[in-house]
Amino acid sequence: MRNLKVTFLPEGKEVEVKEGTTLFEAAEKAGVYVNSVCGGEGTCGECRLQVMQGKAKSDKHSIGFFTTEEIKNGYVLACQTRVEDDLVVVVPARSRVEMEKIITEGIPAYSEPAKESARTSRREPGYPFDPIVKKVYLELPPPTLADNVANIDRVTRELSKRLSFSRCDVSLRCLQDIADKMREHNWKVTVTVANFEGACRILRVEGADTTDHDYGLAVDVGTTTVVVQLVNLKNGKIIGVEANHNMQAHYGDDVISRMVFACGRGSPQILQKAIVTNINVLTAALVKDSKIDPNDITCLVASGNTTMSHFLYGLTPCSLRLEPYVPTATVYPQVTAKEIGLNINPEAIIEMLPSVASYIGGDTVAGVLACGMADRAEISCLIDCGTNAEIAIGNNEWLVTCSASAGPAFEGSGTKWGMRATLGAIEKVQIDGGQVIYQTISKGKPRGICGSGLIDCIYELARNRVIGRDGKFDLSRNDPRLIFENDVAEYILAFPQETETGQAVTITETDIGNLIKSKGAVFAAVKSLVDYVGLSFAQLGNVYLAGGFGSSIDVPKAIAIGLLPDVEIGRVRYIGNSSLTGARMVLLSGHAFEASRTVARRMTNIELSNYVPFMNEFIASLFLPHTDDKLFPSVHY
Ligand code: FES
Repeated sequence: MRNLKVTFLPEGKEVEVKEGTTLFEAAEKAGVYVNSVCGGEGTCGECRLQVMQGKAKSDKHSIGFFTTEEIKNGYVLACQTRVEDDLVVVVPARSRVEMEKIITEGIPAYSEPAKESARTSRREPGYPFDPIVKKVYLELPPPTLADNVANIDRVTRELSKRLSFSRCDVSLRCLQDIADKMREHNWKVTVTVANFEGACRILRVEGADTTDHDYGLAVDVGTTTVVVQLVNLKNGKIIGVEANHNMQAHYGDDVISRMVFACGRGSPQILQKAIVTNINVLTAALVKDSKIDPNDITCLVASGNTTMSHFLYGLTPCSLRLEPYVPTATVYPQVTAKEIGLNINPEAIIEMLPSVASYIGGDTVAGVLACGMADRAEISCLIDCGTNAEIAIGNNEWLVTCSASAGPAFEGSGTKWGMRATLGAIEKVQIDGGQVIYQTISKGKPRGICGSGLIDCIYELARNRVIGRDGKFDLSRNDPRLIFENDVAEYILAFPQETETGQAVTITETDIGNLIKSKGAVFAAVKSLVDYVGLSFAQLGNVYLAGGFGSSIDVPKAIAIGLLPDVEIGRVRYIGNSSLTGARMVLLSGHAFEASRTVARRMTNIELSNYVPFMNEFIASLFLPHTDDKLFPSVHY
């Protein structure tokens, strides 16, 4: 088979591949990220490329995704097209995966925040500073005939005066080193110890006092993005943070398509390799910037949804996706860095926050820890909304959770001009007197609309009565922005001359229908949980919004379209990347680790897929804001 060259424009990246390789695989090899919702199944049409030079062979069924004009101009689906020649291809703006605003910090939500900020504090709010892995400097008494216990026993005997444990294990590698280290350094050693829940494990023995070089990583393994924070375990300070797209996006945009890939054409190990590479790349950048030795990183705590947790451990996710939705594990075993291929100290311990069910993962547990709702008598509600909405309601006595499929609309897919929150995405919209005032991310020319822009848009269209409360356009209006394309009504937000692509950015009646379904699913899930525990919205002391979803939404508008419950605005708080905050809390406190397990055990998960009240609530929510006006007393269109 011939070796052929593929050049990707506009970046100009070149790659050599074997004849017959798909353009999708070639792009992956070249480090060019191409959109993919279906993971290369040929069903989403998101991986559009334009072949400018050379011959490529496309699967016939992909033709359905293009107009005759586009086919003539060389448009193909990357995943359904094989390289047969040296090629020059363009990745059009709408197919490019570009860096979105990644939320790399949580916002403390405790009613009594720590006196110092998280960046400088020795303690996370609510839990004492007591890292699950720590270095302890020991000055040991030299052996004598009267005291000739084994070398390791001399260490554990001294250690037991400083730490509490009922038994202490040691890795073989430490045991092999220990005799020489003790003698070479005149019985002065530093031991790195994992110590929590009454157990202890010695991970490393060094000569002399090295307690100033003691680091850990907190990791948010998101479906879309991965964030790694480097933390000083001696004082709790955050040294740096790095973030990137989850490289698993090559195998599908969302958890379902990645599971389909892992259980079909691919394997869980391919997905595991992708996420481990992600973490290694980000860690390498952090250690380079801070000039630390990766061997001094001896603990990593990760948080993610149940599917991401399975992939990090290389576990099969196949039963997660199918009824009755059974995870392989909800409490993940402690493993070492070398077991999963992380480039830090090989003996470093890896802990993952526990999951609750197939669709309630460690990220929800982390969110509950981060906002402190499980420590207070006051009842709170946590909403983390992406393609899936995860909801937790409760207090220090009880917690209930559920998850509902919100569809990809809020994440920027599934609508004609939907896109992620990257350069050029319309993120804010105001409509007054037929004029549309929009704001785009980084002031780029409009390329599409992201989740917050879509929420604004629906509210503004309803407020201006361009759409009715059923989401249908009022076709009796004489509005130049209201047009028909392929018999579907759509509203122009940005005219062709204003946009990057030269095509109008619009919102169609079908998009609005999909968004109403998405907001209806989120609201119906919250309402179902509130009803399940016999409460009303007025009894929710706090509504916490977590993740990228809450970062730029306009809360009053989100309430007005019936996405969020109609509570006092002051009770709605955005808590940022609470998955990362929760992971760091566990890294810095064995008590927080214990609390995470207690929280996960206490959560009662309501499976909504066969919960009749949810279906009824969902249907009642397919209206702006809702069929029952009494639920939204503050909303008046
Ligand atoms: Fe190619 Fe979905 S159609 S990735």
